Amino acid sequence: IDFKIITNNGYHDSMKMLIDLKNIFARQLPKMPKEYIVRLVFDRNHESMCIIKDNTKVIGGICYRKYPTQRFAEIAFLAITANLQVKGYGTRLMNKFKEHIQKQDVEYLLTYADNYAIGYFRKQGFYQEIKMHPDRWKGFIKDYDGGTLMECYVHSNIDYGN
Ligand code: ACO
Repeated sequence: IDFKIITNNGYHDSMKMLIDLKNIFARQLPKMPKEYIVRLVFDRNHESMCIIKDNTKVIGGICYRKYPTQRFAEIAFLAITANLQVKGYGTRLMNKFKEHIQKQDVEYLLTYADNYAIGYFRKQGFYQEIKMHPDRWKGFIKDYDGGTLMECYVHSNIDYGN
């Protein structure tokens, strides 16, 4: 298992992995309009961390956007392919993601969690109580009715690697 940060940089391999990840998101997040998923996954302000099995096969990932001046990142989409869910990959992905984002001076993660995913996010250290001051994030991320806003504090001195 490898974890790779992929951006829309025009390279064939990156494009292929982003398409595979987009297809996992589209299948696992059926309420999300497909065009919206495509737009964000290929948007140059967004990055994705992919979990890759056997060197080439994308089995899941996180698409996110950093707001460096605000020192937070928003997780737009997160999914593991259907037949590999509840085997611990989602937890490993979140730990790797925190380890990565911690080095980029990000202090908080925000996400609109689907009702089904609230339990997962709780286990990963996300809370419904938002500690960040509204001035710091309101207006930066879109309001969204279809989910519950959750926040995770990323400690600068915790080793999230596992
Ligand atoms: N509700 C409650 N608990 C859950 C859920 C859930 N939906 N999914 C996993 N868990 C629990 C597991 O039981 C496990 O608990 P344990 O540590 O006590 O055993 C823990 O969370 C971690 O489980 P993993 O095996 O690491 O999780 P998984 O690899 O299945 O990844 C994920 C979790 C990403 C939510 C995956 O199930 C998935 O892709 N689901 C469908 C798509 C989805 O809902 N994505 C999130 C939408 S919100 C968003 O994208 C911003």
